[in-house]
Amino acid sequence: MSQPPFYRLPYEARRDQIASQSHLTVDQLVELTAHRQATDENLIENYLTTYGLPEGVAVNLTVDGRPVTVPMVTEEPSVIAAASNGGRLLASPTGIETQVTQRELMGQIVFSHVIDPRDLVKWLTANRKRLLNVADAAHPSLITHGGGASSLRIRQLPPDWVLLDVFIDVGEAMGANLVNTMTEAVAADIKAHRDEDILMSILSNYATHSLVTATCEVPVNQLKTSTIAGAAVAQRIVEASDLAQVDPYRAVTHNKGIMNGIDAVVLAMGNDWRAVESGVHAYASRNGQYQGLSQWSIVDGHLRGELTLPLALGFVGGATRVLPLVKVNQQIAHVTSARELMGITAAVGLAQNVAALRALVTDGIQRGHMSLQRKSLALSVGATPAELPEVMHRLATITQPTMAQAQAALTAVRQANLKE
Ligand code: MEV
Repeated sequence: MSQPPFYRLPYEARRDQIASQSHLTVDQLVELTAHRQATDENLIENYLTTYGLPEGVAVNLTVDGRPVTVPMVTEEPSVIAAASNGGRLLASPTGIETQVTQRELMGQIVFSHVIDPRDLVKWLTANRKRLLNVADAAHPSLITHGGGASSLRIRQLPPDWVLLDVFIDVGEAMGANLVNTMTEAVAADIKAHRDEDILMSILSNYATHSLVTATCEVPVNQLKTSTIAGAAVAQRIVEASDLAQVDPYRAVTHNKGIMNGIDAVVLAMGNDWRAVESGVHAYASRNGQYQGLSQWSIVDGHLRGELTLPLALGFVGGATRVLPLVKVNQQIAHVTSARELMGITAAVGLAQNVAALRALVTDGIQRGHMSLQRKSLALSVGATPAELPEVMHRLATITQPTMAQAQAALTAVRQANLKE
């Protein structure tokens, strides 16, 4: 009898096969199994274990006049500290203001090798209303929730492509499956009427119809450090922002700092961070060159920041349903809709950015990160939470502690504790 395929094996058999082919030690096997979670086993194929990431909350943020505590999931030590610091720097009665002008997803139906593009375009235009109805009929419950297919756009690309873009209001949902179902239904209808080569029908993650803008304005004095006046700090932040508009090398890092915050919120809220990442970076290149996503200027003695992102986040459906912490996180942030979530996420991006820029143009990034880096170094050599303060104390005098020095500090702490 032939061996069943790997994905059909019971959990233990799959795990043991991996352990044996990878020569895992008993301890490693115990580690894998310790993180096994029954609820995750059917979520993905070939489940092995659940890889946990730390979750914390950003504080000090006021968004649209409301103080918010924002859950963030990240493994990078300085990210939540920076978001909270940014929230403090941008504090004002209204705080960071956000605006979502539109929230629609787009599915695309791609016709290739079109023999008579003019005739196809004419037919699509004439059938516009009917095709929108076909899309709605594929997911009628969307209409009852106030959503549905709203419009079509036809584009032609050389040499012989015709693209039919279907715009859909997916309500509060993440919406990828909805859009794929609806665009596939439209494609099937077109095929039933015309002999066209349809290459594919799929959601586009370039969410240009789900833009969110976060803005803030704070007195420059609020940016001061112990040694540099606020006006000078603000001026240097503006210069850093200008540089990210003209140098792609800087722009990528500038945007990475923004995405430190965005990704961590998107993860905590159970949304698809890969979709967000790809859409955001495409948007950063919309003018033909990759540029910084945020821009900072000085207006009447105030530092003004603005960040616009394509951020098609969902409040229900998808992983928000299956990952139990998502509902808890939505409650911690007091978010009750997709639009609110988009606003808060963009606000975190702006706060993250100002904290990074202020550190970079004043003390440099390493100074503020040092204690966090020492902590993660101590943890990585196996210090327990109880041992952490003593190990960090021993590392405090070393400028750039190495792994070996951290290990030595931990050994010394353990020896000292044994003697007590
Ligand atoms: C590090 O994770 C993020 C920064 O490099 C962002 C930036 O340079 O703007 C500090």
